[in-house]
Amino acid sequence: MSGGKNRFNRITSKEWLPFQKSWFKYTDPTDWIRSNFRFFTTLEATSYQVFYQGPDLDIATREAKELGFEVINDLSDATEQIQFALIDLRSAVESLSFEEWNELKTKTLNTVSELFSLMVHRRFLMVAMPNLYIDGSYFPVAWDLANTIGMQYTLKDEKIACLEGDDVPVESDHFHPAKGHFYCLYFRKDERSGEHRMVHRDFFQRNSQPKLRVHADSEIPSWFILKPQRRNKKEVQHPAKYPEDLAEMFVQTFSQKGENVFDPMSGTGSTQISAVKFGRNGYGTELSSFFADIARDRVLSYIFQEVNAGRDQDVEADIIHADAFRAKELGFPKQHLLITSPPYWDMLNMKGAENQAKRIKKGLLTNYSDDDKDLGNVADYHDFIRKLTKLYFELIDMLVPGGIMVVVVKNIKKKGKNYPFAWDLGAILQEKMHLLPEVFWLQDDISIAPYGYGNTFVSNTFHQYCLIFQKPN
Ligand SMILES: C[S@@+](CC[C@H](N)C(=O)[O-])C[C@H]1O[C@@H](n2cnc3c(N)ncnc32)[C@H](O)[C@@H]1O
Repeated sequence: MSGGKNRFNRITSKEWLPFQKSWFKYTDPTDWIRSNFRFFTTLEATSYQVFYQGPDLDIATREAKELGFEVINDLSDATEQIQFALIDLRSAVESLSFEEWNELKTKTLNTVSELFSLMVHRRFLMVAMPNLYIDGSYFPVAWDLANTIGMQYTLKDEKIACLEGDDVPVESDHFHPAKGHFYCLYFRKDERSGEHRMVHRDFFQRNSQPKLRVHADSEIPSWFILKPQRRNKKEVQHPAKYPEDLAEMFVQTFSQKGENVFDPMSGTGSTQISAVKFGRNGYGTELSSFFADIARDRVLSYIFQEVNAGRDQDVEADIIHADAFRAKELGFPKQHLLITSPPYWDMLNMKGAENQAKRIKKGLLTNYSDDDKDLGNVADYHDFIRKLTKLYFELIDMLVPGGIMVVVVKNIKKKGKNYPFAWDLGAILQEKMHLLPEVFWLQDDISIAPYGYGNTFVSNTFHQYCLIFQKPN
């Protein structure tokens, strides 16, 4: 932990680290209300007030009292500046109509706007809420609200609150992952406030929910932690592989034996291995010949090994060394499921990043390739998003009607700025596909770095979005 005086809050350096993890499990709101109050308030500023709006005012008042400051839930009661504000919309957004949501959104934006002038400079506002089904369609209301508030404040961070305990079965005709989560969205009033510009056009494409081909032998939870398998000497050369377990879950849920699974950016072939393991055919493209060879070798060795062991493998696999933009012309059959993860913009070219420094030391590759066609080498964020979504829009043609596309991504923090990559993709892709509830792959095997210690909140992003879309029938 880097030294220096803690000017931001009153917790010890030991407590600072766990709070920085970008996801947490909870059973009772007391835990996260308390931990947020503790993290975002300072002892020096006990004369400042804290704002709480939501269903658990009793808990908030009690927790605040223990920390020695006062909670208000009506801005007209503000007698001091506000050092932390928590707007808890979890229960307010349950089963709303579209009109009711719009009303609540306007009301919340008015409150947030009024709060702005009362907030202490460089202190935080948090909004707690999930995305929602409204009138039978899934709407990314949390992403929309975050983008809108981020135009006045600075959108700083997010944490995923994961409901622990028994799964709550949901009576629904729609795809509904088990368990449940909500977003803790963090904004700061600071010198950059007002700079954010939205990339996408519209978060709300009002598509009616299609009939979903979901195969019940695997129930997908809304969040999951995977134990990473050991990677062999070749696989470890790839800087950003996802675990086969992850792809397997989607293969089992969204495809059937004999159907086709595709990955346009195959990397080390995780998608295809997961497909053939469950009797599906695995296809794909990969721009780097080095990784395309690794992927092909891995998938074919797996099939041969199964055949040699007497386990008949009536499957096909084909990974072509090619630019994904050419996939449509390469003669692949129609696909039932597409599982993929793109380059996370040009983050691998940030050679100073801690992980990159470690890889250089070990003599490992730090990026996918130096090829201009590698989307990981597109330096401008807007250009990157435009190219990537153009590719995905083209790939929709390869899917059968009702086919599913799963995209594994995360929101990106670069040079102190937040780029909501996952939300931007989700918002744009739903122009042509139905957005289904997102699920989270939570990473629990990476050591936490003490970013911002003593100064501000910067989380370690240990959650990856699995965005799920369905091609209309
Ligand atoms: C996040 S990695 C995919 C990792 C893969 N899911 C795995 O588990 O191994 C992204 C991949 O996209 C590839 N890529 C980048 N631009 C591409 C393009 N235009 N066409 C095809 N592949 C591309 C990179 O070479 C890299 O292997």
